Amino acid sequence: MNPPSPHATHHHAAHQEHEHTHEHTHDSDDQSELLDLDAEVLADHLASLIDWLPVGSGPRRIVDLGCGTGAGTFALLRRFPQAEVTAVDSSAAHLHRLREKAAAAGVADRVRAVTADLDAAEWPDLGTPDLVWASASLHHMADPERALRRVHGLLAPGGLLAAVELAGFPRFLPADAPEAAPGLEDRCHAVLDRHHAAHLPHRDADWATLLTGAGFTVEDERTLAVDLKPGTDIPSGDDAVARYALGSLRRIRDGVAPELSPRDLAALDELLDPDGPRSLPRRKDLGVRTTRTAWAARRTA
Ligand SMILES: C[S@@+](CC[C@H](N)C(=O)[O-])C[C@H]1O[C@@H](n2cnc3c(N)ncnc32)[C@H](O)[C@@H]1O
Repeated sequence: MNPPSPHATHHHAAHQEHEHTHEHTHDSDDQSELLDLDAEVLADHLASLIDWLPVGSGPRRIVDLGCGTGAGTFALLRRFPQAEVTAVDSSAAHLHRLREKAAAAGVADRVRAVTADLDAAEWPDLGTPDLVWASASLHHMADPERALRRVHGLLAPGGLLAAVELAGFPRFLPADAPEAAPGLEDRCHAVLDRHHAAHLPHRDADWATLLTGAGFTVEDERTLAVDLKPGTDIPSGDDAVARYALGSLRRIRDGVAPELSPRDLAALDELLDPDGPRSLPRRKDLGVRTTRTAWAARRTA
């Protein structure tokens, strides 16, 4: 595996943390699967965010910046049947998956996948989009302000940047779970938050101010509180949430383990043991709680 680039070095932790690998590795396969699970579990929320975008009659040329495996790309293609999407990411593995999915969905002719490190001195030619979608990717940039200025320069006049940022991995367990260590998930996230503060300094950036500083007019902002409840929102027999919970907590595990108490770590390992009696997929009380914020930023001049 190539060494991670300096701004994305903390590769134990959350959904947002993706190394810039150019090989197919188990690690990137795991990341790809998590991104796909996120897209599946939160498909309705993603669709409602896209519906909310002030894009008039519908964009034709879309760029998905830091597209991952294409959560945004495919949702945008569905919503805007006239559009073509240029999907950009530094991960060849994610783009490989995205191309496969595009072919399977019969939309390969509407997707151009471009491998590029958006921290590099030059960006490849991404055309003149009327919509740029950047979901959970801007905080990865070494210099988000520079990236935003570039997006501003890229957009057609009147075009829109849809910037979406997320509050890390969702929470899946009730607050009083698991029985052996109630509140375990909160404690894992507390450790993770400390790691993020050290390794992903832009995660909590003031995006509205940065967008304005880059020349955009911020037309709207929306925070989506996701709270999928077991039984009502999550049909029994649907195992995507369990797989997402398992994948997420597995990914978190190594990074947080040194700072957990032995009791917490033992309880976490019981949740992660796929064959164990207390494993996540056996639980009937898994939900999905997270927050996503979106900014609709216009290039007015
Ligand atoms: C959390 S994922 C989000 C993926 C997708 N937008 C989604 O919403 O599912 C962040 C993505 O940004 C990409 N990324 C991070 N830094 C990048 C950079 N410097 N250049 C290009 N892509 C980058 C990662 O490879 C990863 O696919």
